[in-house]
Amino acid sequence: MSRKLTAIDLFSGCGGFSYGFQQAGFHVVLGVDNTEIALKTFEKNHNNSKALLLDLHKESAIDTIVDETKNKEIDVIIAGPPCQGFSLTGTRNENDERNSLFYSVFRLAERLNPKAIIIENVPGLLNLYGGKAKKEIIRLCDEMGYNCNPKLLFAPDYGVPQIRKRVFFVALRKEFGVFEFPEPILKEEQYIGCEDAIGDLPDLVTNLGSENLEYDKKPFSNYQKMMRNGNKVLKNHTGTQHTEHVINVISLVPEGGNHKDLPPGVGDSRKFNEAWTRYHSKKPSKTIDTGHRNHFHYKWNRVPSVRENARLQSFPDDFEFLGNKTEQYRQVGNAVPPLLGKILGEQLLKHLNYEV
Ligand SMILES: C[S@@+](CC[C@H](N)C(=O)[O-])C[C@H]1O[C@@H](n2cnc3c(N)ncnc32)[C@H](O)[C@@H]1O
Repeated sequence: MSRKLTAIDLFSGCGGFSYGFQQAGFHVVLGVDNTEIALKTFEKNHNNSKALLLDLHKESAIDTIVDETKNKEIDVIIAGPPCQGFSLTGTRNENDERNSLFYSVFRLAERLNPKAIIIENVPGLLNLYGGKAKKEIIRLCDEMGYNCNPKLLFAPDYGVPQIRKRVFFVALRKEFGVFEFPEPILKEEQYIGCEDAIGDLPDLVTNLGSENLEYDKKPFSNYQKMMRNGNKVLKNHTGTQHTEHVINVISLVPEGGNHKDLPPGVGDSRKFNEAWTRYHSKKPSKTIDTGHRNHFHYKWNRVPSVRENARLQSFPDDFEFLGNKTEQYRQVGNAVPPLLGKILGEQLLKHLNYEV
């Protein structure tokens, strides 16, 4: 077959998941989300894709998407709905706003009959409502003629320099069989560490950086070379001005340590699990989240920049994030690592009888 396979990204955010699909060779036709600035980022970084600002709670959103894709075959729907959007408490009521977010994926699939559907979520979804949420997804897939295979993936196994576990439900229309997940490409001793991921970026210590920075070092790992991919100007790499107090506290935390490594009475303002966490240069980072206050650079006494977080999420350097810094951090933290998306996309192409 010669045409590119097509995909729609629901709850696209900035489009980390679908960027990986684009890298795998899919044409991402649409990204749909209710956050405008994330969609601006999506549009900037996806070729010939349209972004639709829609509230997927609303039934009319599905009509709008169907209208928008008229005359186009949609091969795959990918979706990373917020977890709160799945509720099985009480009787299922299609008009219950909490329910409809998850079900919107299936409502759209009913109308477009794609070859495959992939839903990504936090691992907690597997045990939500005593496992009923998982069963419900599998049941819905089966009812609609899909074989659904769920699996928990660990991002470092696939070359992402970050501890991140996410569950993926991959549903194939029954004629395509059952999806086999790609095997890990790295063993634990080969995992990519923070230094190999971000060690070539300007340190932002003497200089807080600017919107457009130049690289001041050569890349020294294959991962860094892959992320640069010929990029010349660094975007989204500006430092954060911390108080003397924060700098003093974090300077006492060793690589890989956290608040538990602080002397008694120091850093008491933040005591929870991940407070005052310093990354380890030789290990993948902690899970990148949507905030940006509790994780610190493995070497410098500051939080990682948006670009450093993006690197740890496997976004290449030419992927630019729009909006203010808080919005940029949120888009990065919400995303599926593009590299994971790419590996899943490539595996899906094989199942759908496409040469990679
Ligand atoms: C976990 S993020 C998805 C990230 C995305 N998969 C990626 O890889 O970049 C969930 C997204 O759902 C969007 N969202 C939440 N409620 C929504 C709604 N009612 N309608 C549409 N999008 C919604 C949020 O704005 C957020 O971008």
